[in-house]
Amino acid sequence: MTREQIEALKAEVEALQCKTEQEIEEARVRFLGKKGEITRLFEEFRTVDKDQKKEFGQVLNQLKNAAAAKIEELKAVAQTFAASASASAYDLTKPGDSYPLGSRHPVSIVREEIVGIFRKFGYDVAEGPEVEDDWHVFEALNFPPEHPAREMQDTFFVTDNDQKNPILLRTHTSCVQVRCMETMKLPIRVVCPGRVFRNEAISARAHCIFHQVEGLYIDENVTFADMKQAILLFAREMFGPETEIRMRPSYFPFTEPSAEVDVSCNICHGKGCNICKGTGWLEILGCGMVDPNVLEASGIDSKKYSGFAFGMGVERIAMLKWQVKDLRNYFENDLRFLKEFETNI
Ligand code: DAH
Repeated sequence: MTREQIEALKAEVEALQCKTEQEIEEARVRFLGKKGEITRLFEEFRTVDKDQKKEFGQVLNQLKNAAAAKIEELKAVAQTFAASASASAYDLTKPGDSYPLGSRHPVSIVREEIVGIFRKFGYDVAEGPEVEDDWHVFEALNFPPEHPAREMQDTFFVTDNDQKNPILLRTHTSCVQVRCMETMKLPIRVVCPGRVFRNEAISARAHCIFHQVEGLYIDENVTFADMKQAILLFAREMFGPETEIRMRPSYFPFTEPSAEVDVSCNICHGKGCNICKGTGWLEILGCGMVDPNVLEASGIDSKKYSGFAFGMGVERIAMLKWQVKDLRNYFENDLRFLKEFETNI
């Protein structure tokens, strides 16, 4: 063994370059394995003259350490390379990462349920503008000029309400029935979901924004009995097959006669609980036979045609369905509330 031999070997170790883990292993065996070049030098070292032992011992140890360090370094580089290569490669057989699913808003869930039931009954779906004019929201619906809904404290006006046919935010979706009567071919069978606005102070039981679904059915010989049957069938689809309805006389400018409809409380089944306030009944919608004045205002011959209309509040029905106590929950986008509806997608 000579100093030159050792130096040459050291230079070779330092210049070592490997591309794969296999090449690294081969290099390790070549230098440090049982029959490796460095191991062999250590065997030769036994025969080195005593006075040279110290000198050779030192350089040999340095060589061995340098080789071991080089091998470790090469391994580390190869591992990081392998990790980044596999991260960027496409493995099309790998199952996809799952994304956290959002949940549908309770108002959307109930609106779709209501609309879906009427679709099944053969109703079309129509929508109208949220920014409407006085004609569609009030005038054509037979509201007298002095009706309180036409006051600033009940309706959000966009233009001055002294002018003729002012622009306003619709206060109910009944205006969409006017648009349907003006534009659709008879007979008309339609539901109109949408957002409405009222100038109300926000509280647990009232809000300035909410949603309604309006329904309209116009044909020859449509009767109050047809309306009753349509609403009963709807109530049983929505609240369960045991549901009963009752009608109480009411007043709306656009229907005559008018009624308010209650469904039997599906929580206590008529026994009385705090949801139905002990009555066994829950109010869900307003309805009536379309007033002939309303038909005529939209150009429909009230001698030939008759019809019924109904309107219901989506938040109210959602409140009954899930016993939501505070209307403000629907509009605050608090994830703790919204996440409760994840299973209803
Ligand atoms: N528009 C009424 C409201 O906002 C609801 C309503 C009642 C609609 C009776 C109708 C109806 O079509 O016939 O309170």
